[in-house]
Amino acid sequence: MSLSSPSADKTKTIRGVTLHRDPAREACFSVVELHKDLHDYDDMSDISRRQRLHRHMHNEMQTLEIVAQSLADFPNAPWELRMQLARQCWDESRHSAILYRRLREMGGRKGEFPVMNYEWGVTQLLDSMAARLAVQNRTFEGGEMDLLRQQNGMWSVAGDDQTAELMDALLADEVQHVRYANRWLKQMARENPRTLLQVATGIQVLQKITAALAPEPGEVNAVGVNLTEFTHVEVLTNVDDRKLAEFTEREIAELLRKEGFGSLVASSTPST
Ligand SMILES: [Fe+2]
Ligand SMILES: [Fe+2]
Repeated sequence: MSLSSPSADKTKTIRGVTLHRDPAREACFSVVELHKDLHDYDDMSDISRRQRLHRHMHNEMQTLEIVAQSLADFPNAPWELRMQLARQCWDESRHSAILYRRLREMGGRKGEFPVMNYEWGVTQLLDSMAARLAVQNRTFEGGEMDLLRQQNGMWSVAGDDQTAELMDALLADEVQHVRYANRWLKQMARENPRTLLQVATGIQVLQKITAALAPEPGEVNAVGVNLTEFTHVEVLTNVDDRKLAEFTEREIAELLRKEGFGSLVASSTPST
């Protein structure tokens, strides 16, 4: 099933691209639109540690909201998939709470740093379950898996084993979130080749927004740090700017392979 595109009053335009409007936030939060307005530090100073936890906490909040919204938007999805989404909501709310607690233990507070609703702004434009799973779970949380593994090492080297272990615990859950999405995407693609088109649409939306919002080389953020190394979302490779309606199945398959969805394609299209 699919939803209609969000109406104009539900979207915003940033650097020439359309994103979904931000979710509601408590007044303590300062919401910004661009990476440069965040306070990412490039060290492990006390303020940087708090900022890292704060950003991560907010990211988990966003993920909870995105997955919960999929439950609301796709009531006719298979029951077992909806159960997976519901379990993920529980995981993400627990992750948010764990990080908030650790933030407070380190002297931080909710709203201490600016936040950005990038993932929400992208995923809420997508009108199919397949596209949401591909972009949110497969891409954003797939990227978070890499990030958590890296951060586990960073906190450990910085002498904070407690936070390092926390990253490790979160990673175990994230692996499950990516894995169930991959399994469902493969099954959905086997049952309905249109799934590939939906996934390709999601990837193109993500690409377009990522490219528009990507920091320019040398651009520094609000605390004077070069941004390029702090982009949370992996920038996808360029794809020809073709209208989806003109893609053949083979062209879509090629697009997906380019973007790392080769296993999905291999399971759903003939090899000849
Ligand atoms: Fe999480
Ligand atoms: Fe997750």
